[in-house]
Amino acid sequence: MCGIVGILGSQPVAPLMLDALRRLEYRGYDSAGVATLEDGELVRRRAPGKLNNLQGVLGNGPLSGTTGIGHTRWATHGAPTETNAHPHSAGGVAVVHNGIIENFRDLREELETDGYRFETQTDTEVVVQLISREMKEGKAPKDAVFATLQRLDGAFALGIIFSGQQDLMIGARRGSPLAIGYGDGEMFLGSDAVALAPFTNKVTFLDEGDWVVLTRNSAQIHDETGAAVERPIRFTQASAYLADKGNHRHFMAKEIAEQPEVIGHTLGEYIDMAEQRVKLPELPFSFADLTRVTITACGTASYAGLAAKYWFEQIARLPVEVDIASEFRYREAPLPDGGLSVVISQSGETADTLAALRYCAGQGQHTVGIVNVQDSSIARECDAILPTYAGPEIGVASTKAFTCQLTVLACMALAAARQRNTITPEQERELVSALVGVPRHIADILRNESELERIAKKLTSARDVLYLGRGINYPIALEGALKLKEISYIHAEGYAAGELKHGPIALIDEDVPVIVIAPHDTLYEKTVSNMEEVAARGGKIVLLTDEINGNGNGAETFEQFRVPRANSFINPMLYAVPVQLLAYHAAVFMGTDIDQPRNLAKSVTVE
Ligand code: AGP
Repeated sequence: MCGIVGILGSQPVAPLMLDALRRLEYRGYDSAGVATLEDGELVRRRAPGKLNNLQGVLGNGPLSGTTGIGHTRWATHGAPTETNAHPHSAGGVAVVHNGIIENFRDLREELETDGYRFETQTDTEVVVQLISREMKEGKAPKDAVFATLQRLDGAFALGIIFSGQQDLMIGARRGSPLAIGYGDGEMFLGSDAVALAPFTNKVTFLDEGDWVVLTRNSAQIHDETGAAVERPIRFTQASAYLADKGNHRHFMAKEIAEQPEVIGHTLGEYIDMAEQRVKLPELPFSFADLTRVTITACGTASYAGLAAKYWFEQIARLPVEVDIASEFRYREAPLPDGGLSVVISQSGETADTLAALRYCAGQGQHTVGIVNVQDSSIARECDAILPTYAGPEIGVASTKAFTCQLTVLACMALAAARQRNTITPEQERELVSALVGVPRHIADILRNESELERIAKKLTSARDVLYLGRGINYPIALEGALKLKEISYIHAEGYAAGELKHGPIALIDEDVPVIVIAPHDTLYEKTVSNMEEVAARGGKIVLLTDEINGNGNGAETFEQFRVPRANSFINPMLYAVPVQLLAYHAAVFMGTDIDQPRNLAKSVTVE
């Protein structure tokens, strides 16, 4: 993920933006840059590498403008060179961008056909060229931006300034956060409240799809339809580096909302967007030489591993054994010589997982850690790590780390399939394209959160809740049940849907809601049969699916929630979000301590 900042100030803004970018450096530091208006003309200073390099460039070429935008980059498209560093400018427009423009290749082709010449390999440059073309056709800056936003697919946050427009800055948010900061005769834009902390604690967090037209004394917010809207002004406690809840009541809510952005960041690490293929760091083995992969983890992380089993076996034709670390570490499992053991851990400190890792290492396995904390014990002891880029996860209930774990594992399965020649380049491009769409789909799901809040309230009177899923949806059923019980304290169990009739169906009556995770994949019809078994016994079905027809999709359902229809390859990341939100809102109604539930800890460092 990248960091963006913008200032309509009363003094030279370049030094102020440098300060703000330092607070955003945790978001990435492949390159950095600023643009200001010098006598009305756009002037840029950019540098590859860390912010100190930009500071040096500014030292040699100071900028005095009081209107500016700045950016610290984490490269997703194009190498981290000065040319590819933001801000990007064309035709008197300058833009900084955080996120992924999915349809940038089509847009670039369209613009090049129109005679526009590109100087970078980035997706961002299409934004600045589109706005510039709209303005050449006579639109005012605000209208040119609105027209451009309609053309973009993906998840992004933007900051935009215009030559000759000393008192104008426009921001837009879709899937990546963006905040307005209110000063005294000054106005600010930033990726988060931390960036704005040096200037103001009076902020507004834009909602999904919002865009804003700023002057030094006004902020006119519009929603995605262009209608003027009001958003609350808040006073944040964002100190220098304190993780801040932003617009949310709980860290868990914030972290659920961050998923489009952090998954986009993680995808940027493991996918070559221009080539639409996976790019894993060099690993000390070839997947082609492996006969089996062992995956071990605890809790939510183990469910990510279980989902990965389906990907590795179905796409890379590589047998996978998954076991929870607290069992695996004592099982004395025989492991194949030169085999691969993958351990998954958000904290990188879970004692059982660390012990399981040590067992695998002792058995001569190649060990790879999928961790969110890169300087953790597990990270240090693995032969290699494939980090998730979820950012700090404060809520005890793991959410964004889980979907980032799934993202890394999906990329790993594709890399394995390529090395084992079990997929063609075209098939890989198709699956990578599906992965790149995950941030946008999750942003769409988040827009319908209120629907899930309404449904969640109906779960709070339940004695037990069952979660059912088949195939790769089964691990998501397990995860949904864990989320509900660990933060709302309502008992819940996840089951393979086909297992229902082997006992658990005895639990079904009108007091037991059954959450059915059933996208229209190859197992959908089988799952409908299970839903009919439940309905026949008075069970209340909450169906999570991707296509809702009139007759309740073949069985009497109590509630339905539609998840965007997508390639089934990415369904685990998509369906994780509704089950997270059902658990979160049920817990809000129950009044539990959502970020620190009773009896739990964020990292279980005891056995
Ligand atoms: C997840 O919501 C729980 N907090 C818990 O199951 C957690 O996933 C488990 O303790 C593993 O933690 P780790 O990923 O840090 O190893």
